[in-house]
Amino acid sequence: MPELEANDLMEKVVSLCKRRGFIYQSSEIYGGITGFWDYGPLGAELKRNVKELWWRQMVVLRDDVAGLDATIIMHPQVWKASGHVDTFNDPMVDCKVCKGRFRADQVSEIPCPRHPKMSVAQCPCEKTAPRPFNLMFKTYVGPVADEDSVAFLRPETAQAIFVQFKNVLETSRQKVPFGIAQIGKSFRNEVTPRNFTFRSREFEQMELEFFIKPDEAVEAEAGSIAEPSGSGHPGEPQRNWGWRAWLQYWVEERIRFYESIGLPRSSLVEYWQKAEELAHYARATVDILYKFPFGTQELEGIAARGDFDLSQHQQFSGKSMEVFDEETRNAFAKLDEEKRKALWQRFYENKKVDFGKRGCPEDQIEKRAREAADKLLRGTYIPHVIEPSAGVDRLVLALICNAYDEDKAPDEKGNLETRIVMRFHPRVAPIKVAVFPLLKNRPELVAKARQVRDLLRPHFAVFYDEAGAIGRRYRRQDEAGTPFGVTVDFDTLGEKGAALADTVTVRDRDTMRQERVKIGELVEWLRERLR
Ligand code: GAP
Repeated sequence: MPELEANDLMEKVVSLCKRRGFIYQSSEIYGGITGFWDYGPLGAELKRNVKELWWRQMVVLRDDVAGLDATIIMHPQVWKASGHVDTFNDPMVDCKVCKGRFRADQVSEIPCPRHPKMSVAQCPCEKTAPRPFNLMFKTYVGPVADEDSVAFLRPETAQAIFVQFKNVLETSRQKVPFGIAQIGKSFRNEVTPRNFTFRSREFEQMELEFFIKPDEAVEAEAGSIAEPSGSGHPGEPQRNWGWRAWLQYWVEERIRFYESIGLPRSSLVEYWQKAEELAHYARATVDILYKFPFGTQELEGIAARGDFDLSQHQQFSGKSMEVFDEETRNAFAKLDEEKRKALWQRFYENKKVDFGKRGCPEDQIEKRAREAADKLLRGTYIPHVIEPSAGVDRLVLALICNAYDEDKAPDEKGNLETRIVMRFHPRVAPIKVAVFPLLKNRPELVAKARQVRDLLRPHFAVFYDEAGAIGRRYRRQDEAGTPFGVTVDFDTLGEKGAALADTVTVRDRDTMRQERVKIGELVEWLRERLR
């Protein structure tokens, strides 16, 4: 495809999404509602495939991850403990002239509604000073709408995982290190939703909280902590991995996932946040960015969050979030005095810092840190966590942008015309195979094509289409990103000799090459190519 201007490409993507039924504006007949999007027939399939592939890789194919499906509305204290009530804010400015509200850190990028050639920052309108705006959607639970019944739509799925940590641990037969995964809706009242679905007010997340032992426990058990190289996949998990090796492991696992569904490595950027960018509780955060047409932006964040979240819920709920780890206890019992003291000291110092950051009263910090360090030596600790957190909608948008292509293909008369083709990886393609009778008005062709459709349907997402010229039917499937088109023609019926009877033409979306395949071998043939 000749290099399209970024704006052009985005316009084409948005238009194709609407035209072909990937994504529509929510409530479109009423003029839409900003920041909300619906997925049409093709978009719904694409999104389902993305979620299923994530779940398969993160849960089904692993021994050390269990799934969760929690509610969107939770006890309001959850959001107090997590920090969202007090700190989940964006700085907002109001324009006194147009009454617009804008994110203070984006005013230089957003066009002024009154002076479209200028950004909000440049326009002469009078603006207020920035003030914090909490992004959580508020609602009321039960029939009385008062302060006691206030609840929030969750702004992330992660907190339910922390809140249910103990239940999952007790019912899943998992032991640290292990993870809990969840896919579900999240809601943020974004001040300025933008870039199509990229920043929406209702969206879906795919989150894993992977619980690990504190480094001092690992060192007691394994003798030392593995030093990760800082780049590349560190291989199968090892018992001497501390949080740094686990972080690197999850970054690389997630990049492999994106590659496995068709995002080339060259379209992704691994960004290690600088110390001053980190959330106060995070030890490190790695963002995986995708080169969207509107800029290189975050697809997923992978954060090493220490024991912040579980500690907060332990403090606010009064329920223990500690685990008893026999291996840790035995390891400390066998250590020589000097090493045990050194690990105690290091854990104690780290805990003091953590308690300080969590707002623990000054006069209690040392006492609490000492208690925690004493407990560690007896094998009891609050697990630390590595959190790979991805957005379904952003990934779907990245896949759509990545798949969009234009090339040349012959029309009905053999003249070359521009073809729009969505080059989805077969794993995510909404429809895997389309089946066509060559002509609609020949009952023998139609009957045979329907037989082929019924043969394939139990195995793949199939679309049957008999309307219009065959070239146009191919073109529609190219725009849907269907990897293969199967045509039943007169050869299939044996009209041109026995050799071709019961064979079909299979057309490859990308090369447009056609191949004859025996119907009896078709399922296997497709299966091999759709893996
Ligand atoms: N639990 C950690 C967490 O929620 P985040 O960086 O705020 O971290 C994680 O969100 C991912 O969720 C982002 O990388 C992005 O893919 C997706 N996401 C966040 N806000 C979004 C929004 N307004 N619209 C679409 N996706 C969003």
